[in-house]
Amino acid sequence: MALNRLLITHCRNIASADLSLSPRFNGLLGANGSGKTSILEAIYMLGHGRSFRQPLAAQVIHYGESALVIHGALQQATKLRQIGIRKTRQGTTQVRIEGVDGHKIAELAQLLPIQLLTPESLLLLNGAPKFRCAFIDWGCFHQQPAFLTVWNQVRRLLQQRNALLKDARHYSALQGWDQALVPLSEQLSHWRAEYCAGLLNHLTATWTQLLPEYQFTCNFQRGWDPQRDYQPLLAQQFPRDRAATYTLLGPHRADLHIRTNGQPAATCLSRGELKLLLYGLRLAQGAFFNQHTGRDCTYLLDDFPAELDHRRRQLLIHCLKQIDCQLFASALDQQQIADLIDEKGKLFSIEHGTINTSD
Ligand SMILES: Nc1ncnc2c1ncn2[C@@H]1O[C@H](COP(=O)(O)OP(=O)(O)O)[C@@H](O)[C@H]1O
Ligand SMILES: [Mg+2]
Repeated sequence: MALNRLLITHCRNIASADLSLSPRFNGLLGANGSGKTSILEAIYMLGHGRSFRQPLAAQVIHYGESALVIHGALQQATKLRQIGIRKTRQGTTQVRIEGVDGHKIAELAQLLPIQLLTPESLLLLNGAPKFRCAFIDWGCFHQQPAFLTVWNQVRRLLQQRNALLKDARHYSALQGWDQALVPLSEQLSHWRAEYCAGLLNHLTATWTQLLPEYQFTCNFQRGWDPQRDYQPLLAQQFPRDRAATYTLLGPHRADLHIRTNGQPAATCLSRGELKLLLYGLRLAQGAFFNQHTGRDCTYLLDDFPAELDHRRRQLLIHCLKQIDCQLFASALDQQQIADLIDEKGKLFSIEHGTINTSD
């Protein structure tokens, strides 16, 4: 499955573009500020309903315009599926699939699974637990049809619980909510743990290729003591939760601990090495997704070669060439991505928001 055609209207500095894409490698070349990341942003929005750079659509819409539209034709075996998204300055989002409006963003996410790698993606390793939790949840969303519904229920219950904590004098005021929260949280954690266990083989294989000099451990943390049941823990935690007016322990605090030599990997690896560790996570997730669903992810690589020395870049290129996925990589010039280009590849040169096919 790959994007066969992409139409962009009023996204950042791209007023209008119609790109015919390669099902494998697509190189985006241009100077700083030409619009490379904007193209990746447009593809990401088509799969996620929002930008990876700014939460507000108004900042992504071309100056002076009222809305942006991204449209894609997805090649699925012999079938071509039309997907589209329109976002307005007022904040409305319209999802169109096969010419019919009113679809959900989650449906786009199902149809166009994306693995994003930007310079900011290192937050997955050195940022707050929520980034790693989102990484796990991406996989659970694609493996468990009920995951999103359960997660949304848990989120709502936690919000209501936190609101109640402001006035609750005794734990009994929360008990009813917790009776609903506990089984859903356990279900969620079970899916997450199962997903991480399945991912581990793929992770080990990719990390061995990319960082052969290290050995890593990767442990899922569910967000509360693994030895304790959640219900009595919530009751015991009540005074602390009330003081914080926030539920301190639970599935919203889930994390993935990645360590080497007993230390968190984020604290002891160099930036270039961390980047490879990160690529390993994304590649492993894509491989696991493929094993489970038989489908492929689309990879978006922004500023592809940044901060990698020649040897490490070659290791990464070797891994990227092994996967049979659609890939978009941005770089300043052709030489930086020369090793990724093959006969099926396409190159686009971008200048002030205008995109030309140069291959
Ligand atoms: N809403 C907007 N409308 C028009 N242009 C924008 C908007 N937001 C950002 N830009 C401009 O878009 C240009 C392209 O940005 P970007 O895609 O990040 O470039 P690149 O990745 O090629 O360095 C920047 O020069 C920026 O000033
Ligand atoms: Mg950029």
